Amino acid sequence: MTEKKSIHGVWLGRWTFILAATGSAVGLGNIWKFPYMAGENGGGAFVLVYLLFIAAIGIPVMLAEVMLGRRGRKSPINTMKELAKSSDASKLWGGIGWMGALSGFLILSFYSVIAGWAVAYAVKIIGGSLLDQPDIPAQFGALVSDPVSTVLWHSLFMLMVMFVVARGIHKGLETSVNILMPVLFVMLLGLLGYAATTGGLGQAFTFMFKFNPEALTAEAIRSALGHSFFTLSLGMGAIMAYGAYMPQNESLGKTVVTIGILDTLVAIVAGLVIFSIVFANGLETAAGPSLMFKTLPLAFSQMPGGVVLGGVFFILVTFAAWTSAISLAEPAVAWMVETAGFSRVKAALAIGIPVWALGLVCALSQNILSDVTILGSSVLDFLDKLTTNIMLPLGGMLIAIFTGWVMRRSHVVKELNVKNFALFNMWIIVIRFVAPAGIAYVMGYLIYEWATKG
Ligand code: PFF
Repeated sequence: MTEKKSIHGVWLGRWTFILAATGSAVGLGNIWKFPYMAGENGGGAFVLVYLLFIAAIGIPVMLAEVMLGRRGRKSPINTMKELAKSSDASKLWGGIGWMGALSGFLILSFYSVIAGWAVAYAVKIIGGSLLDQPDIPAQFGALVSDPVSTVLWHSLFMLMVMFVVARGIHKGLETSVNILMPVLFVMLLGLLGYAATTGGLGQAFTFMFKFNPEALTAEAIRSALGHSFFTLSLGMGAIMAYGAYMPQNESLGKTVVTIGILDTLVAIVAGLVIFSIVFANGLETAAGPSLMFKTLPLAFSQMPGGVVLGGVFFILVTFAAWTSAISLAEPAVAWMVETAGFSRVKAALAIGIPVWALGLVCALSQNILSDVTILGSSVLDFLDKLTTNIMLPLGGMLIAIFTGWVMRRSHVVKELNVKNFALFNMWIIVIRFVAPAGIAYVMGYLIYEWATKG
């Protein structure tokens, strides 16, 4: 029997898939978002709950997503439709693919604005106009409040993303992840070495790992769940789309565990670096989204060779965001290529232009449109909360339910090439009960809170 392949191509091997999926997972979520969320939610307890969600829900759901993707070998929308059909289930399960493509669309619109700030920082540091300022943290406000530059940096980043997406997965993605992901990791470790010299590392450690249950609010638990999906790129089909390009004989279990560990390591190291700088300089842990942009440049301004190192670092953050952004567009783009018969270029434009336009609103929501709010949040924050706290966990829950309850068990066993049934059964229990119940509980709480708040 000939092996079923995706029309979009197949990765060169398991390691390329690991790099591409890690490229999708490791991004602004790790370096920008995780540290500031840990800071806002009081540190230790949040980090612990986050780690628990990654291990108990995130990694098992990731295995389900990759498995579904490889089984279907198509864009998530068509994969879900076909897998539902082959298990004699309702076509409505295709809705998982649709909701995922929509989540990717919405996330990309605000993700690109923030990635644009990282590009701006790289350019400004190298150009010598940032680290010599008397008040470095204040430079962030100056950048964000300027509508023209936020729009320009966002536009530049969207162009970069669509350029790679248009070239297709081989030429576009493999080269960038093969080289840049390892370099990013080495640089983060180097920065950790620097953090050890600031005198703040001990405090950073305590802040991040000391279990402080009194700081654990319902809000912190909800954010930890949402973020575990966001950081692993789960619940919207990005990993499913990449799974479709995975060679047939590779072990999926080991692969997803590797990705989960790499992603978590990057987040933890980034957190330690950032909080060391926060404590060494008497800055605010709960600074929110500006945290990375205020702390890291300060460190670079104090070290020899800071201009070069800082420039390189923000270039790497840009690359990390770039490889994630590409995966946000992939489900919708792959669907257009398959179903509407578009070329990659046409599909990239058809998705890229509306995402860019919505991104404009997000960019301006930080300055001239700051009066426009939805449920009390700026457009950018609203889209972030809607996707991270609701759409991704909901997508993950439906994927778990589909895999555990709807799809024929024999298909699952075959696709995973199961040899160790004890381990498989444990995974099935998580996918059938633990993941859906855990997500339902956290989301139920959210609805209850909304209802009782009036
Ligand atoms: N995982 C990415 C990050 O942590 O920055 C963001 C992301 C990419 C979320 C792809 C969801 C996704 F499908």
